[in-house]
Amino acid sequence: MHETRVGEFTLRYATSGDGPVALFLHGFPLDHSMWHAQRAALGDVRTCVAPDLRGFGASAGVTSPILTMEAHARDAVAVLDAVGAEQADVVALSMGGYVALAMWALSPDRIRTLTLMDTRAEADDELARAKRDDAAKHLLEHGRERFSAGMLGSLVGPQASLYARGRVRSMIEGTSYETIVAALAGMKVRADREDLLETITVPALVVCGKQDSITPPPYSRRMAEAIPDARLELVDGAGHMAPLERAEPVNRALRAFWLGESDEAAEETGAADSTSAP
Ligand code: MLT
Repeated sequence: MHETRVGEFTLRYATSGDGPVALFLHGFPLDHSMWHAQRAALGDVRTCVAPDLRGFGASAGVTSPILTMEAHARDAVAVLDAVGAEQADVVALSMGGYVALAMWALSPDRIRTLTLMDTRAEADDELARAKRDDAAKHLLEHGRERFSAGMLGSLVGPQASLYARGRVRSMIEGTSYETIVAALAGMKVRADREDLLETITVPALVVCGKQDSITPPPYSRRMAEAIPDARLELVDGAGHMAPLERAEPVNRALRAFWLGESDEAAEETGAADSTSAP
């Protein structure tokens, strides 16, 4: 892992491959290792840079009681500075998607293309905010094991392999209590980004597992319809963790998107069920 300082904090990130930089932003409460299959498959066309967001993975450490999406977005820009990249193809899952949208709001010039996976633009409503508080209490009362066992069922789809399930549990159980609590607090107050979508002037790819129960396909469909130049890929047999559960079709969709191939070309190579939006 490489590292860069952001103020007092040390952020760590993995890099591999060659070519223009692609920046991979992980979901909650995970770490950069969720992108292992993408880094392994796409290193011939992109330098894959995968940070552990502040507080997570190898960027663990005491942070603050609230980890905002804007703080993560500023860190993501700092990682681009550290690797000398003016711009990146940003690929972001779920909470990473909230961070990517904050990054578009703060530093749109640093984003060459945007891939949003299993995420949404809407802020939390009152019920979702209350659930964040309940989740934090549940974690502190019952511990990470019960918390991760509870989350697993909603993070992965029914067809997820035992390996994918194991990977997800390891990532959750490797995340500190205070980071989980601070990230829940940050997601709870994140801005609504629905109006931002129409300002996204770079090409976008929106990916969603068809069995995603946390951010089901209608969220992705709405995002793909609102972003002026967006392609939508729905992934068969995947839940919320589409790039981990069904890496091959997701990797094919990313490759086709970056290389400017048509949806049909992606489909011919067996990529996901694919529709152009709107
Ligand atoms: C994630 O996968 O990052 C989370 O499910 C996002 C969220 O809780 O809103």
